[in-house]
Amino acid sequence: MNAAKEIETLIRAKYPILFLVTWEEARVQSVLEEIGTRLNRQVHTWSVTQGMNPSVSAARKDQAGKLPGELEALAQIHEAAEFTIFVLKDFHSYMRDTRVIRLMRDLAIRLRGKSQSLIILSPNLTIPTELEKEITVVEYPLPGPEEIAAQLDDVISAVSDNPQFNTQLEALDREIMIKSAQGLTKDEIESAFARSLVEFRRFNVDTILEEKKQIVRKSGLLEFYPAESSFKDVGGHDLLKEWLEKRRTSFTDKAREFGLPAPKGVLMLGVQGCGKSLVAKSIAATWHLPLLKLDVGRIFGSLVGQSEENIRKAIRVAESVAPCCLWADELEKGFAGVAGGGSGDSGTTQRVFATFLTWMQEKTKPVFLIATANDVSKLPPELLRKGRFDEIFFIDLPESPEREEIFAIHIKKRKRNLANFDLKALAAKTAGFSGAEIEQVVIGGLFNAYDKGHDLTQEDLIQEAGAQVPLSVMMAEEIDELRTWARLRARPSARRTED
Ligand SMILES: Nc1ncnc2c1ncn2[C@@H]1O[C@H](COP(=O)(O)OP(=O)(O)OP(=O)(O)O)[C@@H](O)[C@H]1O
Ligand SMILES: [Mg+2]
Repeated sequence: MNAAKEIETLIRAKYPILFLVTWEEARVQSVLEEIGTRLNRQVHTWSVTQGMNPSVSAARKDQAGKLPGELEALAQIHEAAEFTIFVLKDFHSYMRDTRVIRLMRDLAIRLRGKSQSLIILSPNLTIPTELEKEITVVEYPLPGPEEIAAQLDDVISAVSDNPQFNTQLEALDREIMIKSAQGLTKDEIESAFARSLVEFRRFNVDTILEEKKQIVRKSGLLEFYPAESSFKDVGGHDLLKEWLEKRRTSFTDKAREFGLPAPKGVLMLGVQGCGKSLVAKSIAATWHLPLLKLDVGRIFGSLVGQSEENIRKAIRVAESVAPCCLWADELEKGFAGVAGGGSGDSGTTQRVFATFLTWMQEKTKPVFLIATANDVSKLPPELLRKGRFDEIFFIDLPESPEREEIFAIHIKKRKRNLANFDLKALAAKTAGFSGAEIEQVVIGGLFNAYDKGHDLTQEDLIQEAGAQVPLSVMMAEEIDELRTWARLRARPSARRTED
């Protein structure tokens, strides 16, 4: 049942006090007006600044000012005729006052008898215990796909005879626009559509992501990442890229109708500097989804109980901007101690972790979790159990052809012509180097060239490669251990030829 229908039913069934949880006063108000008309009931709206509108009775008006506004409002309701609806804005903040609570309890019985309904609108659900039995809570949802589609059509028809704007949308793009706008209020959606037309002369999903950025920023627990890298910036990892490419449109209705489940998430384990964070960023950009980074450090607040509330809040924010990617980087750092018993902090880490696990298991909103980790020994085994992630990938050091690709990416990024370089020779010289180290070779090479006063040459790169000792040499044992572990439990991110 949709929320408007539910409210109508509750009013007809004489539920005396409804608490509607919503940010959208104007949108809900117009729905309530419609219900009032349909049920033939007068709707009175009260706010602290405007008072009761329309006022209940002229006689009461000259008494105005003698009582505090909120008590005056309740007094007016007490006097009002049968079959009326009262909408109270921001009233939750007065519901701490014992007089208000008492009056509301007394009113509740009377309201029922007179077919009157009192409706409280507020984004914050706070109900004093004394009133719990009198109040019925309805979460008023943000606009759904049909409403957004109608809004989009309104905008299109409003500008249809203006040749400045291109309002053509392919079916898939239209669906992406509508999907991305979910989680925003009606006003935010309208602003995003309008802004898109003004800025780009057409509909661009990035303006919607811009609106969502605001929501994420205000929450303070998640970090919004701009879409900057794509799969083209990632060298190697062909199997991982294929896997992700296949899931590119998996958040669409067509995929649902086909019977595909929405993807849950992916865990990338592996050697430092081989592109885990880079892949995370490029997934979101390729899929045109907002990327939210979960900062585990910020989750663990200093107050008791705060960390658990924080993780719940972070999850809520991510769900409210869904579809999106939630990026939990270096998971083992945040949840270190869970595997070892979590002795130091009286189980807080464990409880936060448990909340997170439960959410992963049961989430229904399209939030794609991208998790990364370097050290498997610190990861709690529950995390790796089937059903939590769609897949666990092992990110190994790049083999020779992958190193060529990575060199090519970074040489091109620095605006040098690839024809001047022998990529095969560079790859041969850098066995055991990670992607990050290859990037360092290119940067070091540029310094060499600049110092010598000529443009970058093959020789500069070879010289730099010879001067660096890759991490894999110093950490040979750890990497071997990781490989042995991963061979049985994870899928390789790239086709292997060497061993
Ligand atoms: N496969 C790759 N292709 C292209 N560039 C790469 C690749 N791997 C690493 N790099 C370069 O190295 C930088 C660092 O890599 P990234 O941060 O993604 O590694 P990581 O696996 O997350 O490392 P860590 O475990 O230390 O967090 C990237 O920003 C990119 O410039
Ligand atoms: Mg990283």
